[in-house]
Amino acid sequence: MLINGMRWYDTDNNEIHAHGGFMLEYGDYYYWYGENRTDNNFVSCYRTKDFKDWEFCNNVLTSSSPVKKINETNDLLLKRSEESFDPSVERLGFLRWDGEGNIISNIERPKVVYNEKTKKFVMWMHYENGHDYDAARCAVATCDTPDGDFVYHGSFRPHGNESRDCTLHKFNGKMYFIAACNANLDLIAYELTEDYLDVTENKMIMFPGEKREAPAFFNKDGEVFVLTSGCTGWRPNQCKFSKSNDMTEWEKLQKIGDEVTYRSQPAFVFHSKKNNKYYYFGDRWGNSSAEYFASTYVIFEIIFDKNNIPQLLYCENASVPK
Ligand code: GAL
Repeated sequence: MLINGMRWYDTDNNEIHAHGGFMLEYGDYYYWYGENRTDNNFVSCYRTKDFKDWEFCNNVLTSSSPVKKINETNDLLLKRSEESFDPSVERLGFLRWDGEGNIISNIERPKVVYNEKTKKFVMWMHYENGHDYDAARCAVATCDTPDGDFVYHGSFRPHGNESRDCTLHKFNGKMYFIAACNANLDLIAYELTEDYLDVTENKMIMFPGEKREAPAFFNKDGEVFVLTSGCTGWRPNQCKFSKSNDMTEWEKLQKIGDEVTYRSQPAFVFHSKKNNKYYYFGDRWGNSSAEYFASTYVIFEIIFDKNNIPQLLYCENASVPK
């Protein structure tokens, strides 16, 4: 039995590091990707058939992942020398070193989707240089298999915009990358190119000035829903939801869950095709810099009233999808 907020372990009895994660259904498995800041890891992947036994697959992105240029502009570095940082910029309380004087970058909220046309698994993520939080870039990586070694294609600012907390979501046949921008004031949804490797000109600002982050989307009854947190760093706050028919016009944000979202922040929403139920996966981040890296997880079922207003079904035990 998985208890919300306790440490969860894989089938080798190692702690599961899949913070700020995402889930992909592929073949017979559900793949869970997320942040792993142990050693030189960035993103780890686990898989399950039953949401109880989690098999560790691979550290799919690390600071020594293979790199491949796909355009002239993306920055391909995943670590950089200490001297390359401006000493006047305040450093993070946590830094990761590669043992050769380089500071390892910081990768957050990795999300992976499958592109039917290119047959590639495509990862989008929030990239920071590991020294501070000013880079505010997104980054892209790809792989031929869900749990192989992803090839890193670099970081950039979409349309020059800052890009922090992010996710991927498909609605009405179009794949979107959604990220917090403008000092976290707004969320922007960018429609992706056919190969999912870049953003197109089609973009829409969501909730201008409302300071929402940690976006988690799902589709239900022809509408697209989003859950978001407020901006209080790793401290939990009130989750809000909204819905839309077209990704452009969004209803006014409404509260969901208690004022600290049962001490969690959204990672993603999983829709089980088996029982047609929706599950909120959240992170309970720690209270100190050492603990930020190792959130514990919560899973709450999302229930809906007759007007399709969602509610988080709080429970001590994780509501494991069936
Ligand atoms: C949170 C965000 C996390 C992490 C943290 C850093 O608001 O959702 O992913 O970036 O801030 O303070």
